Amino acid sequence: MHRTHTCGELRISDINTTVTLSGWLQKSRDLGGMTFIDLRDRYGITQLAFNMETNAALCEQARKCGREFVLKITGKVIERSSKNLNILTGEIEIEVTEFEILNESQTPPFTIEDNTDGGDDIRMKYRYLDIRRKPVRDNLLLRHKMSQQTRIFLDAQEFTEVETPVLIKSTPEGARDFVVPSRMNQGQFYALPQSPQTFKQLLMVAGMDRYYQIVKCFRDEDLRADRQPEFTQIDCEMSFVEQEDILNMFEGLVKHLFKNVKGIDIDSLPRMTFADAAKYYGSDKPDTRFDMKFVELKSVETLHATSLIPAGFPVFDNADLVVGICAKGYAEYTRKQLDELTEFVKRPQIGATGLVYARVNADGSVKSSVDKFYNEATLKLWAAAMNAAPGDLILLMAGQTDKTRKALCELRLEMGTRMGLRNPNVYACLWVLDFPLLEFNEEENRWFAMHHPFTSPKPEDIALMNEGKFGQVRANAYDMVVNGVEVGGGSIRIFDKTLQANMFDVLGFTKEEAQAQFGFLMNAFEYGAPPHGGIAFGFDRLCSLFGGENSIRDFIAFPKNNSGRDVMIDAPSEIDNKQLNELGIDVRK
Ligand code: AMO
Repeated sequence: MHRTHTCGELRISDINTTVTLSGWLQKSRDLGGMTFIDLRDRYGITQLAFNMETNAALCEQARKCGREFVLKITGKVIERSSKNLNILTGEIEIEVTEFEILNESQTPPFTIEDNTDGGDDIRMKYRYLDIRRKPVRDNLLLRHKMSQQTRIFLDAQEFTEVETPVLIKSTPEGARDFVVPSRMNQGQFYALPQSPQTFKQLLMVAGMDRYYQIVKCFRDEDLRADRQPEFTQIDCEMSFVEQEDILNMFEGLVKHLFKNVKGIDIDSLPRMTFADAAKYYGSDKPDTRFDMKFVELKSVETLHATSLIPAGFPVFDNADLVVGICAKGYAEYTRKQLDELTEFVKRPQIGATGLVYARVNADGSVKSSVDKFYNEATLKLWAAAMNAAPGDLILLMAGQTDKTRKALCELRLEMGTRMGLRNPNVYACLWVLDFPLLEFNEEENRWFAMHHPFTSPKPEDIALMNEGKFGQVRANAYDMVVNGVEVGGGSIRIFDKTLQANMFDVLGFTKEEAQAQFGFLMNAFEYGAPPHGGIAFGFDRLCSLFGGENSIRDFIAFPKNNSGRDVMIDAPSEIDNKQLNELGIDVRK
C-alpha cells in the first residue's frame, strides 16, 4: 500500500496513529541530531522527522535525498515541539520508522514552493513542475469547481450538454481561423471552431430547446493577458425566449457560481446601455467597482450651445469632446505625479496628445494647467459641473470623441488603481445592452456585424435598417461585464429567413456567397426555426476573476505563451515532407 493518508489530512487528533504517506520531498533541513523533511502531495505538506540517535541509518538515508525525490514513509504521528500554525498539518509531524525512495529526481530548475524563483518562461517549459506548486494547483482546483457548479446549475434548468464537432467550416466570429488540411480531400481545409455558434443554432432548429457545452474554441488573434488562441467557453442556447429570459437565466448562473464557489451573494445585475457605457466610462466593459464617471464639458451635442469652454485654448476649441474625471481628494498630487500621468496617456498604446488638470484648493479656488486661457469663474464652473469639492483633482482630455473616450477610460482605470479602488476581491457585475448591430469598417469600406451576422436587430429599429441608417440600428445583444472584464456575450438570433437574407445583403454578401458560406443554416431555417437566443461565457476569464487575477494563463493547465507557442511540447513545429505530401501540400517555399 502506498499510503494510508494524504499529506494534507493529519491533525493533532491523529497522535500515536501509525501512518504511511507518499509524496515529493519539498525541502529538507539537517540540524545535526535531527533531519526534517517536508513531504508534499496535492493535499498539503506533512513534516517528517528523522532522529540520528534513535535511527541513524534512516537519518543518513533521508539526508541523501534531494528536492522532488518521490518518497514513501511509515511512522507514528507525534506532536511537534515547534508548531507551524500557518498550515493545517502544522501541529504534528511523523516520527519515521520505514523509508523508501520510490523515485529519484534531478534538481528542479526552479523552487517548487508557493513563492518561486522561476520566471515565466522556465515555469511554462516545466509546467508539470509548476503545477506541483500550491498557487497553480489551487487555480486548477478552482477551475474544476467552477465547471462542476456550472453543470449543476444548468442541469437543474434542463440544459443538455451536447458536443459539437471540432473539425468544421469557418464560423463567422470575426477573428482568423486555425485551419487543418484534409488528407482525404486534398486542397481542402477544415477550420477549428471560433465558437460552436452555428451548431448551437442548428440544435435549436433540431428541437433540443436548451443546450450548453463547456467547449474549446480557437481564434488566431493577437494575444493579451485575457486572450489565448485556444480557450474555453460555457456556450449556451435557448429556444422560445426573449432577451429578458436570457438575462434572467444567466444572471442566475453567475449568482449560483459566486454563491457556491466563493460564498458571495451578488445583487441583481445593474443594466447599462452601450451608449451610456461609452459616454460615462469610455468603454463597453466599464469597471464599475468605482464611480469616477466621465463628465462632458463640451460634446458634439453642446458644440454650439453656450458652453463651458469659451474660445481661447486651441486644443479645446478644435475638439469634438472635452471630457474629464474627478479624482476625489487627489488635489495634493504633485507636479511630478501629474507629469507621470501625462506621460502615461501619451504612450503610443493610448496615444493622447496631452492632459489638462485643475486642482480645487481647500479655500475653493481652482488652479489649472490652462490658467492662461480661462479665468477662475470658468474654472469654477468646471468644478461645479464635475461635482469637484475642495481637495479634488480634475483631469481633462480633449479631441475626437471615440479616441478621447478611449484614452480617458485608460486614465480612469489607472487612477482607480492608484487610488486603490480596484480590489480584486470586490466584484461589480453588470449587463451592457443595446449594442449597435453594425459597425462600419473604413479600410474595407463596408459594414460588419458587431457581434455576428445572426444577431437580431431590435424590432423597433428594423425600420432604421430599411431606411439604410445602419449605424443607428441597435441589436438585441448583451455582454456581461465583471470588474471591467467582458466575461460573456450573446444575442437573440434572427430566425426569420427574409431578415437573415437582408442582413447578409447589408453585410455585402451576394446571394451565392451567403448560400456557399451559410447555406446549411439558411436551409435549416426553411424547416421551422424557433425563436432562439443564447450567450457564451469566457470560462478562463471567469476563473481568473474568481481567482482574483488578471491573467487567464494561470488558470489553464497548459497555456500558450504570448507568441502562441507551447514551449513545453515545442508547438507549433515543422512537419516532415512525407506528412506534407500526404496532405497534398506543396513543400517548395
Ligand atoms: P464572443 O466572441 O463574445 O461570443 O465570445 C464569448 C466570450 O468568450 C470569451 N473570449 C475569450 N476568452 C479567452 N481568449 C480569447 N481569445 C477569447 N475570445 C473570446 C470572452 C467573450 O465574452 N458565439 C458567440 C456567443 C453567442 O452569441 O452566444 C461568441 O463566441 O469572455
